[in-house]
Amino acid sequence: MISLCNGWEFDYNWSEEFARFETVAESVRLPHNVKELPLHCSSPSDYETVCGYRRIIDAPADWAGKRVFLQLDGAAHIATVFLNGKELGSHRCGYTAFRTELTEELKTGSRNELAVKLDCTENKDIPPFGFVIDYLTYGGLYREAWLDVRPENHIEDLFVYASDDEIVRCRVKTSETGGSLEVRIVSPEGETVGLYTGNERCFDIPVENAKLWDVDNPNIYSCKAVLTDGETDEKTERFGFRRAEFKADGFYLNGKKLFLRGLNRHQCYPYIGYAAPERLQRQDAYILKHELGCTAVRTSHYPQSQYFIDECDREGLPVFTEIPGWQHIGDLSWQDQAVENVREMIEQYRNHPSIVLWGVRINESQDNDPFYRRTNRLARELDPSRQTGGVRYITKSSLLEDVYTFNDFSHNGENGGVLRKYDVTPDMSKGFLISEHSGHMFPTKAFDPWLKRQQQAIRHATVLNDAMADNEHAGCFGWCMFDYATHRDFGSGDRICYHGVTDAFRNPKTAAALYASQGDESAVLETGSPMAIGDYSATEVGTVYLFTNADKVLVYRDGVLDREVSETPFKALPHGPLPFEAGVNDWGGQSAVWRFDAVKDGEVVSSVTRSPSAELHIETDLSCIALTEGDKYDASAVRIQIKDKNGCTASYAQIPLKIEAEGPVRLLGPDIVTAEGGMTGVYIGTTGEKGAGSVKISSLGFESVTVRFIVN
Ligand code: GAL
Repeated sequence: MISLCNGWEFDYNWSEEFARFETVAESVRLPHNVKELPLHCSSPSDYETVCGYRRIIDAPADWAGKRVFLQLDGAAHIATVFLNGKELGSHRCGYTAFRTELTEELKTGSRNELAVKLDCTENKDIPPFGFVIDYLTYGGLYREAWLDVRPENHIEDLFVYASDDEIVRCRVKTSETGGSLEVRIVSPEGETVGLYTGNERCFDIPVENAKLWDVDNPNIYSCKAVLTDGETDEKTERFGFRRAEFKADGFYLNGKKLFLRGLNRHQCYPYIGYAAPERLQRQDAYILKHELGCTAVRTSHYPQSQYFIDECDREGLPVFTEIPGWQHIGDLSWQDQAVENVREMIEQYRNHPSIVLWGVRINESQDNDPFYRRTNRLARELDPSRQTGGVRYITKSSLLEDVYTFNDFSHNGENGGVLRKYDVTPDMSKGFLISEHSGHMFPTKAFDPWLKRQQQAIRHATVLNDAMADNEHAGCFGWCMFDYATHRDFGSGDRICYHGVTDAFRNPKTAAALYASQGDESAVLETGSPMAIGDYSATEVGTVYLFTNADKVLVYRDGVLDREVSETPFKALPHGPLPFEAGVNDWGGQSAVWRFDAVKDGEVVSSVTRSPSAELHIETDLSCIALTEGDKYDASAVRIQIKDKNGCTASYAQIPLKIEAEGPVRLLGPDIVTAEGGMTGVYIGTTGEKGAGSVKISSLGFESVTVRFIVN
């Protein structure tokens, strides 16, 4: 496939003149967001437009006799494709890819005018629209674009799946009936380990000693198909050998029980909306697995970037993905589109070993058996290898799926963490999963007081613990990974839902430490308080939780061992938070220096100090320092945190920061930002040029920080 991300022109307002290339328009590259958005108070009026994208396609003479397709991976939300003035097709879902055949109109050996009319309005005729929605839906050609040039007879689709029985099942769809196939299975080391040659389109290929795809060793194989019918055509797909099953008592991966400790992920970013390039998509999977210790993710509430899912494949992070929608079910033609979305989701994502469950209901909608019989039937027909779920908040609803995926918002901070399975599902013999919890039950900002941030973490711990304890839940997906922009009907008045365990830039709140400490990859130690007495009523610091994956924590006050903490009330968690009573502190005494040493197997593996400190500095974390410029632009996130001399986030440092980019990098957002809760971020994109670039971050009274990039 030929990347078609560069060389586009854009107009916020579509017109016939624009489509005829008669107007002057802005040059843009994909992924593209129709307008830069503010961090706070962005709204649909920032993107609800009918806009236009256009591009010249110089078709070489040797494309004559070939079939040529345009593939747009993400066009929010209704796209119509024109070539040389002729309408060739349209697509009515902003969350799945689609292909338009250009062959008939394409003039080979010549210049062709391609135009895309894009309706970014929240059109009630298609999912997810029709009523209120708790997230912004943005606009633009916000994923990648491709040209696919194929012989007359070519491979349209290659579906490959393999359980742990070492049989690869292949279904090949070719555009014509003739032609013979040679299909190779290639191991992660690049060796051919299985081969089929023949004329069938459905066949099995046995493989010996296949290495399984699992969470620790996500072995990925390739299936390379070559079709010969005069000319040859090739298609390669990646897949894994694994058996994923939801049973009455939990989730099993390759026969081994695995509790899915996950978070829900939206696909939005500050300033750039949905338009995040490959590197940022991949980084979110990395953050979930390595920074948040997750063992699963739910792509609420729609299919997400192939790069994100591909990284979940590589990281060994099981995914629950679902069709677009939010509570509302529209009329029959709306439902037809939702069924079409099931088809597109499954056909486009079914080779990913990380996907373990299809969500085939509209998130939190009411029962509608005729509609959901259709979605379930189609899912099972298109993918016999996976089970279905569908997210509801109602109990005992009609269970046409294999797994009762339930949003359990029952925990209010005082009661038990979860509802029991028999109170929720009508069928105890099927799988049971919490698809969401917490979220709006306890919105928490990075700049809320410490006590509140600690409580958010403890609420997540309570739900997670109780879900793990009862041996009935296959997993539990917290709402949600990061704060996100939303519609006026939700959020904190500034149209942000502060439900994340990280802020919108993926900077950690206290609850992130709860998740991080469940993993064992590296030593984690975080305190639920900076131990500053002025932050608590009547100086009563009360219960402080320590989030750690060590065996115990030694607490020192002014250098003297004060106590040893090792007991947790969260017994079902791999590493429950450890409470200790810091009690009431003197108003009139000298401030204390607290040191916490986390001890594992008799050794101190991590140590943090908490004491009042006015010596603040700026710290940064980059996605990468080496960016790649080429057939698309690259980007890096720069996460920014203000820390004190102990490395504790200075969460009341709401300070302005000036951001200056130099060289072949540009800011994808404003050049003055404010740290909120001592944290913020910026996104840097490449410009088309190569060489050394830098970004300087400065603020009055701070030593400025310059981060350097190389654009290759
Ligand atoms: C759920 C919904 C999510 C989000 C969440 C907030 O009802 O499915 O999209 O709005 O509530 O807690």
